[in-house]
Amino acid sequence: MSSKTPFKVLCVCLGNICRSPTAEVILRHYCDEQELNVMVDSAGTSNYHPNKAPDTRSQEHALKRGYDLSSLRARQLKTHDFIEFDLILAMDHDNLADILALQAQAKREFGHLRAEVALMSEHDSDYPKQALPDPYYGGAAGFERVIDQCESSSLAWVEIFKQKILKV
Ligand code: 4NP
Repeated sequence: MSSKTPFKVLCVCLGNICRSPTAEVILRHYCDEQELNVMVDSAGTSNYHPNKAPDTRSQEHALKRGYDLSSLRARQLKTHDFIEFDLILAMDHDNLADILALQAQAKREFGHLRAEVALMSEHDSDYPKQALPDPYYGGAAGFERVIDQCESSSLAWVEIFKQKILKV
């Protein structure tokens, strides 16, 4: 492990029990595979499910694809995250608007902020700037779509991180 401070990325959705935990584990997987010095976490804009494990449907679909979400616990995004993290990734455009509103509050609170804010799909040519659709009220296909899109968008971010030479 490097003694250098990692580049810290926070994946954010609404509940932090479906999309952002999936994004967290998949982005971490691809960063680790490329030995990038990147730390990944996740949070929700809401406080609907504090300390809850990811939705069992998200866990089951992810595990079948080789991703273990079981140790994650939900938490709400807070202003301090804007000085703690380098990059905050919104899963959809509503999340982005909520994150930017909290960013304005954080700016008033702390002055200079560390975090840039972007969409999870920002650099993804297969899902260009598209929302990661919320699977919570839908069926199995929605959960598979989340995994497909998280893989695609994570690979695109890994290419960006590689250009920044974030090697371990
Ligand atoms: P997530 O999905 O934002 O991907 O975690 C949701 C989880 C819970 C709710 C909505 C979306 N909810 O309304 O409780």
